[in-house]
Amino acid sequence: MGVVNKLSEIFKALRLAKKFYKAGGCVTANIAYPQYGNILEGRRICVTGGGSGIGLAIAKKFAQCGARVLITGRNEEKLRAAVKEIGSNGFYIVWDVSNVSLAEEKLCDASKILDGNIDILVNNAGLAPSKFWGDVDEIEWDRIYSTNLKGMFFLTQQIVKKWKKLAFSGYKKVINISSQGGFVGATYPYRMVKWDVRGLTEGLGKTLVKDNIIVNAIAPGVVKTSMQEFSLNQGDNLYTNQNPIQRVCLPEEIAELALFLASDASNFIIGQTIVCDGGYILK
Ligand SMILES: NC(=O)c1ccc[n+]([C@@H]2O[C@H](COP(=O)([O-])OP(=O)(O)OC[C@H]3O[C@@H](n4cnc5c(N)ncnc54)[C@H](OP(=O)(O)O)[C@@H]3O)[C@@H](O)[C@H]2O)c1
Repeated sequence: MGVVNKLSEIFKALRLAKKFYKAGGCVTANIAYPQYGNILEGRRICVTGGGSGIGLAIAKKFAQCGARVLITGRNEEKLRAAVKEIGSNGFYIVWDVSNVSLAEEKLCDASKILDGNIDILVNNAGLAPSKFWGDVDEIEWDRIYSTNLKGMFFLTQQIVKKWKKLAFSGYKKVINISSQGGFVGATYPYRMVKWDVRGLTEGLGKTLVKDNIIVNAIAPGVVKTSMQEFSLNQGDNLYTNQNPIQRVCLPEEIAELALFLASDASNFIIGQTIVCDGGYILK
C-alpha cells in the first residue's frame, strides 16, 4: 500500500511538472479583496456582457457592495447562471448591444427591472479578435466594430439623453472597458477599437462632466477569462510570459478598480483610461 501511494504521488508530481513545462513556468499570486461595506447601496447599475469573465466579476463585486445590478448578454442560459452567482441583487436581460436600434427600448426594460433609473453603466461587452492584419476581412471588421464600439457608443448616447432630463441626485457614471491593446500600435480591428474606446472616454469625460456625468475607462492586460483560453487551461497556474509581472490578471482584480471608479472615491478622475496590465505597456 505504501509503495502504491508513493507511486501515485510521483505520477501526480510528474503530471504537475508536465503542466508547468507546457505553460512555460509557474506563478501563483497573493491578492487582497478589501471589504467596503455597502458603498454602492441604492445605486442601480448595468453591466453589458456581465454573464462571464470581467463583467461577471464586476457585477458580483457591485452587488456585494449593495447595488442592484443588471447584466446583459446574448446567451440567456449563461445570464441565468450568472445571476445565481450574483445573488439577490442580480438581474438579467437578453440584449445584443450591437443591435443599436434596441437601445432605447432595452433601457426602458432595464429601468423597470431595476425599479428605477440606471445610475452607472459599465460598457464591458466585447468580442475577441479572430483575424489579424493581412487576414482581416470585412466580416471580421464589422463583427468587432459592431459590438465593441458601435454598441458602446449608441448605448451611451441613449442613456446620456435620459440622464440629462433627470434632476441631480449624485453623479451618473460610465465605465468603459478598453484594453492594454489601446496603448500599443494597432493593426487589427480589436486593438483599433480599444484605441477608439480610449478616445471616446476622453472626449465624453470632458464633454459630459458639466452635466454631472463622469466617464472613465479601464484598460486591462491579459485577464483569466474565456478570451484568454490558455489561462483557463492552466488552472491555478497564473504564469504568462506576456508581461513583466509574468502572470495573468484575475477578473476580480479588474472588479476592484471598477469599484473604485464606480464609487464617489474617484469623483475627481475625469476621462481617464486606467491601465491594469502587469507592466505590459511600459517601455
Ligand atoms: N480577457 C482579457 O484578457 C481582456 C483584456 C483586455 C480587455 N478585455 C475586454 O474585457 C471585456 C470583457 O471580456 P472578457 O475577457 O470578460 O471575456 P468574456 O468572458 O468573453 O466576456 C465578454 C462578454 O460579452 C458578452 N457579449 C459579447 N458580444 C455581445 C453583444 N453583442 N451584446 C451583448 N453582450 C455581448 C458575452 O456574452 P454573450 O456571448 O452571452 O453575448 C460575454 O459575457 C471585453 O470588452 C474585452 O475586450 C479583456
